[in-house]
Amino acid sequence: MRAAGAAVALLFFFLFLLAAAAEAGAALPRFAEAPQYRNGEGCPAATAAGVCDPGLVHIAMTLDAHYLRGSMAAIYSLLKHASCPESLFFHFLAAAPGDGELRAALAASFPSLRFEIYPFRAEAVAGLISASVRAALEAPLNYARNHLADLLPPCVPRAIYLDSDVLAADDVRRLWETRLPAAAVVAAPEYCHANFSRYFTPAFWSDPALGARVFAGRRRPPCYFNTGVMVLDLRRWRAGNYRRRIERWMEIQKERRIYELGSLPPFLLVFAGEVEAVDLRWNQHGLGGDNVRGSCRPLHDGPVSLMHWSGKGKPWDRLDAGRPCPLDHTWKSYDLYVAGDGGSAASPASGPALSAW
Ligand SMILES: *[C@@H]1O[C@H](CO)[C@@H](O)[C@H](O)[C@H]1NC(C)=O
Repeated sequence: MRAAGAAVALLFFFLFLLAAAAEAGAALPRFAEAPQYRNGEGCPAATAAGVCDPGLVHIAMTLDAHYLRGSMAAIYSLLKHASCPESLFFHFLAAAPGDGELRAALAASFPSLRFEIYPFRAEAVAGLISASVRAALEAPLNYARNHLADLLPPCVPRAIYLDSDVLAADDVRRLWETRLPAAAVVAAPEYCHANFSRYFTPAFWSDPALGARVFAGRRRPPCYFNTGVMVLDLRRWRAGNYRRRIERWMEIQKERRIYELGSLPPFLLVFAGEVEAVDLRWNQHGLGGDNVRGSCRPLHDGPVSLMHWSGKGKPWDRLDAGRPCPLDHTWKSYDLYVAGDGGSAASPASGPALSAW
């Protein structure tokens, strides 16, 4: 009996080694090196404080093999349009394991990029994720944004969270300098013309303990906002234990279905009516089309500081398929992907960092 048990254990050990080797050996796509961008006049001088340097602009994104092409273009666009590109500090929440390879890929394309990678394990959110309208929205990495305040160093007072399917067209420092009044934890563009009711199920609205009661007493009437572009006050977030507040709604969702879209609705439940409104130019969203068909969509009226391919269609997929939408050509000018023998561009690993339309 004992010998059989040992044999089984040994077998599992070898299977584990095989799986680990397969993960480590999964080739990432190849990317070109981006042009180098340097700080101009009037930029804050770097100090010896490293990540705690008060002159830094902190950007947080997720990182994984599947959406690396989007992340690379996003980073490139942010650097290119920044007045002080060397003052940007990137915090990447990366699917673990495999974060070592991602680090190497980033360093190769952006040799002087200031960044840190935080391995994010799916177990951190296992048991909290419910089925959603689009499978990609269920990926654990979509929920990594809930953990930013826990993972980033305590000296980082604020961070801009960005999805991987965005492109900056303006200096991100302008977004960074958004004033957050004492009561606000999150600043984001709000869409008050969107029908807020439809983000939650009839079961939610008809329950007297939930529905309108949840939003009573908020600073303003609740409006939809997109969680793909947010300025987060990490100190207030930590002090108010907001991850726990979000997770409580995810637990309720497991018991009874109160919404349909992945990681977005719990944010709305906690923050709608409390967020500080940012100019809509910072999230020209929906360029990926809807969640089912991913059809082409134009920009909304008004100025554009950040474009966001939220929705099902991604510019790299549509370009590769030879069916790009008009705005996908803009994205293409930031694409660092080198087609060829460097591995497959589409190797669904662990998941995306994108939000619903
Ligand atoms: C908003 O959506 C809800 C639920 O889908 C619907 O019942 C309601 O009629 C909509 N309201 C407007 C103004 O379109």
